Amino acid sequence: MRILSGVQSSGRLHLGNYYGALRQFVQLQDEGEGFYFIANLHALTTVRDPKAALALTREAAMAYLALGLDPKKAVLFRQSDVREVLELYWILGTVTPHSHLERAHSYKDKVAKGISPDFGLFAYPVLMAADILLYSADFVPVGKDQVQHIEFARDWAVKFNTQYVPGYDPADPEGKERGHSPGILKLPAARIQEATQTVPGIDGMKMSKSYGNTIELFGDEKEIKKRIMSIKTDSTPVEAPKPLPSQPPKTPGVVSDVPLYDLLKVMLPESEFAEVDASWRAGGKGYGEYKKKLLEAYHTTFGPARQRYAELAADPGELERILQDGANRARAEATRLMDQVRKAVGLP
Ligand code: TRP
Repeated sequence: MRILSGVQSSGRLHLGNYYGALRQFVQLQDEGEGFYFIANLHALTTVRDPKAALALTREAAMAYLALGLDPKKAVLFRQSDVREVLELYWILGTVTPHSHLERAHSYKDKVAKGISPDFGLFAYPVLMAADILLYSADFVPVGKDQVQHIEFARDWAVKFNTQYVPGYDPADPEGKERGHSPGILKLPAARIQEATQTVPGIDGMKMSKSYGNTIELFGDEKEIKKRIMSIKTDSTPVEAPKPLPSQPPKTPGVVSDVPLYDLLKVMLPESEFAEVDASWRAGGKGYGEYKKKLLEAYHTTFGPARQRYAELAADPGELERILQDGANRARAEATRLMDQVRKAVGLP
């Protein structure tokens, strides 16, 4: 079973990325053959500074490794290192209905957020489908916001196979019945990351780079402390019981109206959180103490990963070697598939 997972390298990684996706992605390396890539071509739709584009790609790769991705088990590579993806992207584009792209949620959301509606952004789902189909992935772990993209990839794979594979029957995509042929492009399934948590930022809105409310995974230690110490709280006195988050939160756009409590809940081991919860309800401790507790939890959780990250950052040659090795393994798959695809469509 092959699992394919991509992260777009468009910003510094933060707690929201970790608890919402990366943690689960890394765990999946034990469940099948993992292909993990840094979507640095997709990132060009938002990152316009070449130095930042390079740095963010490296940082995402280091983050994966620091968080425990094992390059002996899983294949870790940069999207742009396997150029075949761009060829498949074009060919898929010739079977992609324009109307599908027009109704893509993520396109509409991004444009609403002010990202420029250029062709790259519009064509984003086609490149994403090429990522998935190029490596014949069985499963793609994604958040709910990306499910439509996986459905598109399935639809277009069926269209391609129907058009170009003699004997292909969409009702029997693996060609199990007599007289049927399997498709060239394998249909992927979305694996929705249900267990993930929405992490509030320091202001209670969803933690997101675009809101400027993040706590970074590998950021500067002083800055992390400053961020944690500035988590929004009210003026409940030290002795008094502290307010609990309302469910659902009362203010629109806010995911937690008591972000300090919810961040502690996300970060602390269950038994430790139970103690915090009890004192929170009883009163007697000030917010400052809880913030210190959170800072401690941050260092306990990410200390070892931050250490590995620093080591990787100090040895760019080693990182490059890992990425080149990953690219070679990924390319071997890509080449095999593209030979079939080219032949099927009539490219010499
Ligand atoms: N769109 C994904 C994101 O925003 C990144 C991505 C690009 C991806 N290609 C992919 C994810 C293929 C899974 C499979 O995070």
